[in-house]
Amino acid sequence: MICLGIEGTAEKTGIGIVDSDGNILATCGDQLYPEVGGIHPRDAAEFHAQHIVPLIQDALSESNLTLEDIDLVSFAKGPGLGPALRTIATAARSLSQNLNVPLIGVNHCIGHVEIGKLTTGATDPVTLYTSGGNTQIISYEAGRYRIIGETLDIAIGNCLDQFSRDIGLGHPGGPIIEKHALNTDDVVELPYVVKGMDLSFSGILTSAISKYKKGVPLDVICNSFQQTCFAMLCEVTERAISYTNKDEVLLCGGVAANKTLRLMLKEMCDEHYVDFYMPPMKYCGDNGSMIAQVGLLAYDEKLTGIKNSYINPKYRT
Ligand code: KG4
Repeated sequence: MICLGIEGTAEKTGIGIVDSDGNILATCGDQLYPEVGGIHPRDAAEFHAQHIVPLIQDALSESNLTLEDIDLVSFAKGPGLGPALRTIATAARSLSQNLNVPLIGVNHCIGHVEIGKLTTGATDPVTLYTSGGNTQIISYEAGRYRIIGETLDIAIGNCLDQFSRDIGLGHPGGPIIEKHALNTDDVVELPYVVKGMDLSFSGILTSAISKYKKGVPLDVICNSFQQTCFAMLCEVTERAISYTNKDEVLLCGGVAANKTLRLMLKEMCDEHYVDFYMPPMKYCGDNGSMIAQVGLLAYDEKLTGIKNSYINPKYRT
C-alpha cells in the first residue's frame, strides 16, 4: 500500500510518499519564513494553498509514481494553526475523493515519533520532541501515546526564534544562536524552570533579552541560553527514562539540529546505558513522510494500536 501524506500544521508545507514496507519514496517541502514577527496563521494557510499542488507533483516525480499509484491519503489533523489545518484538510479531502481512496487524519506529534522509529530503528523510545511549536516528552504506555511532560508556556524553538527576532538577528533563531554560542564558554545565569516533568521557557526569554540590552555580550547570552534550556530538556528526559524504564531515547523536531543539544543528551543517555537515536535532519523537522507513515499505521489499526484517527466512514470495515 502507498500513502501520500500532507503536512501543514504551521509554516511548512510538506508532501511525503511512503509504502507499507517502510520505504520512503519521496519527501518534498517548502517553508514560509516571516520577515518580521511570528508566523501569521492566515499567511501560513495561503502559503499551503499555493504550494500543495506543485509539491505533490514534485513528490510524484521524485518517486516515479503517478496519482493512480496512491492507495491512501493522510493529512495532519493537529495540533496546529486553525486556518493552516483547514487548508490541508480540504486539499487532502478533495485529493482522496478524486482518487477514490481512503482519507485519514493523523496526529502531527505522533508523526515525529513514528518517522523517527522508521528512520532510526528505535522500537519503543522515550521521545523528546523539540520544535518551534511544541516541546513534549512522549512515551507509548498501556496501548497509546502519552505526553508525560511538556512546556507550560512557549516551545523551546519559539523561545529561540523570539529572542533572535527581538534583538534583530533574524529568523529562524535556533541556528543563529547556535553559531554565536559556539564562540565562547562563558555563561551568565538565566532562570532554570523545571517542575516535575514540565518546563517553562518564557522567563528565560525575558531575562535573556533584558541581560543582552544591559550589555552582556551576544555570544555569552547565546551560550547561556543554550546551556540553560538544554540542561532543562536533559533533566526531564532523564527523569522520563527512570519513570518509564525504557532503554531508548529519540530526539526529534527542528531543534534536534542543534549539536550542543545532541551532545548533552547523548552524554546523559550513555551514563544510563540508554541508546540515543536521532532521525536524519530531513526527517527531524516537519515533513510529509511522517504523516504518510502514521497514515499507513493508522489504516492498519492492528499494526500499532494507534486508534482514534479520522478515517472516512465509507472505508471503515
Ligand atoms: O520542527 P520544525 O522544523 O518546525 C516547526 O516547529 O514547525 O522546527 C523549527 C524550529 C525553529 O524554532 C528553529 O529555530 C529550530 O527549529 N532550529 C534550531 C536549529 N535549527 C532549527 N534550533 C536550535 N539549533 C539549531 N541548529
